[in-house]
Amino acid sequence: MPTLLAIETSCDETSVAIVRNRQVLSSIVSSQIAVHQPYGGVVPEVASRQHVETVNWAIAQSLEQGQITWAEIDGIAATCAPGLVGALLIGLTAGKTLAMLYQKPFLGVHHLEGHIYASYLTDPSLQPPFLCLLVSGGHTSLIYVKECGYYEILGQTRDDAAGEAFDKVARMLNLGYPGGPVIDRLSQTGNAQAFALPEGQISLPTGGYHRYDTSFSGLKTAVLRLTQQFQQSEHPLPIPDIAASFQETVAKALTKRAVACALDYGLTTIAIGGGVAANSTLRQHLQAAAAKHSLRVLFPPLKFCTDNAAMIACAAAEHFQRGHTSPLTLGAQSRMAISDVMKLYDAA
Ligand code: KG4
Ligand code: ZN
Repeated sequence: MPTLLAIETSCDETSVAIVRNRQVLSSIVSSQIAVHQPYGGVVPEVASRQHVETVNWAIAQSLEQGQITWAEIDGIAATCAPGLVGALLIGLTAGKTLAMLYQKPFLGVHHLEGHIYASYLTDPSLQPPFLCLLVSGGHTSLIYVKECGYYEILGQTRDDAAGEAFDKVARMLNLGYPGGPVIDRLSQTGNAQAFALPEGQISLPTGGYHRYDTSFSGLKTAVLRLTQQFQQSEHPLPIPDIAASFQETVAKALTKRAVACALDYGLTTIAIGGGVAANSTLRQHLQAAAAKHSLRVLFPPLKFCTDNAAMIACAAAEHFQRGHTSPLTLGAQSRMAISDVMKLYDAA
């Protein structure tokens, strides 16, 4: 099994990790959340500058924490798409430079492929095929993982991503950024049945509803209306009850679709990936539904749900073992479909 050093700078975490044999030898994650918090969201230029200032330190720390020398590193990987272009460029340029300097193979990695393989850190024996429920700040998809590099999107959101809905609802409730962790925490003391909120089904022209696609914009609007009603009344805003009811609705909607999709396609394992995989209610609902239908559900370790380089190294290791490497001319791309992942590599 190769030892890979990976760099992740696609959004607001500067992260460097070294992974061997699906085991994390070191993981450095420097979060920029505090820097962006006053703005209520990520400011791209500020993110790029923070990455520039932190990336060299994170690389040095990663080697030191893992007690690894450059001679022991078999390849260098960096996230190259999708994400904020300026932010991606920092990690990508650092990765390519190190590959040139130390004469190591280089691999560009698709950020979402990293989230898919974060579950390898929970179960190192996991192998495709399996279903991935990818729920992050920018994406909500049900992905059929056929083989490393070969993916089919079976379901997705028609509007907001799950994490985006958490962030927007948190903003409506004046809870700050990022919204997911604070809504999750407040939900623990709220009544999840306090408010009936719409699940956001997608109607089919032929009648009935789409089995796998979701929509969170209606749910978001329902929370906004509810909040406005309370603000216009004399009653205080029951924030924990609204948070718990919202979280329950999202968890139920995602669980129903993921389980239906796994059963329809005869996939026995569902691996969850992305920041929203940290959500406690989603974890409970998926585990209960999986037990009922004899499915296996895998979550990454909590610290590897949100953005990190260990998951990027896991994805890179899969490609490295198949002889895939990327040219040093590889550029950063803000958008890239997961089905285009193989465009990043030259076959051996
Ligand atoms: O995967 P990620 O770190 O970045 C992207 O690739 O987008 O996901 C970040 C998203 C944010 O929207 C954040 O609010 C959400 O994950 N998140 C959560 C939780 N922790 C993070 N959402 C719900 N519950 C959580 N515990
Ligand atoms: Zn992510």
